[in-house]
Amino acid sequence: MTQDEMKQAVAKAAIDYIEAGTIVGVGTGSTANFFIDELAKIKGKIEGTVASSIASADRLKGHGIPVFDLNSVSEIAVYVDGADESNKHLHLIKGGGGALTREKIVAAASSKFVCIADESKLVDRLGKFPLPVEVIPMAQSLVAREIIKKIGGQPKLREGFTTDNGNIILDIHGLDIIDPVKTEEILNDITGVVTNGLFAMKPATVLLLGCQDGVKTID
Ligand code: A5P
Repeated sequence: MTQDEMKQAVAKAAIDYIEAGTIVGVGTGSTANFFIDELAKIKGKIEGTVASSIASADRLKGHGIPVFDLNSVSEIAVYVDGADESNKHLHLIKGGGGALTREKIVAAASSKFVCIADESKLVDRLGKFPLPVEVIPMAQSLVAREIIKKIGGQPKLREGFTTDNGNIILDIHGLDIIDPVKTEEILNDITGVVTNGLFAMKPATVLLLGCQDGVKTID
C-alpha cells in the first residue's frame, strides 16, 4: 500500500465511528481531506459538520455538506483528524498545516477524537517533527526566548505563513519530549502563545493507523 492508500483506508475506517443524525468535527490536512471525501458518500446520514479550518470548510461545502459555526452547535459527537506524530498513549503533535488552534478548539468541543494516520506517524517519543506554536505576532521574540528558556529547542518562524486567526507560527525544532502533558502546560503558560500543537492533556480517544497489512486500532 502507498502512503495515500493507507490514508484513504483509515479515512474509510473512521466512517464507522459516525452516528446517524450527529454533527461531525472535521480536521485539516491530507488525511482529513480523504475523510471529507468519504464523509461526502454518507452526507445524507449526518446533520452537518464543524470545520477546523477555512480549507476544510471549503472542501466540505464543495461536497454539499453543511458546515456550522461552532457557536451555533451544542454537541459534536466525534472529531476526526490526522496528526503529525502520535505516541502509543495517543498524545499527538499537530499543526503541520498550521490549523492547530481551531483543531484544538473543535477537538475540545467533541466527545470523541478519532485520529487517523498512516504508520509513519507513530513514534516512540514525540518531538522529531517540529512542534508548532501559534503566537500573537507582536510577541514573537518574547515567546521564542521563553521557549528556549523553559523547554529548550530551536523555535523558527514559519516564513510567509499566517494562520486562519491572523497569527504566526513558531516551529520548535530539536525537541525530545519526555513528558508531553507537562510540555503542553508549560507552553500554554507563556504569554503571547495562542496554542501549541501538543494534544496530550486531552489525547485522541482512538488512533486508526494505516499499515501495510490494513488498519490497526490503538486505544
Ligand atoms: C493541520 O494543522 C495538522 O494538524 C494536520 O492534521 C496534520 O499535520 C496531519 O496532516 P496530514 O494528514 O497531511 O499528514
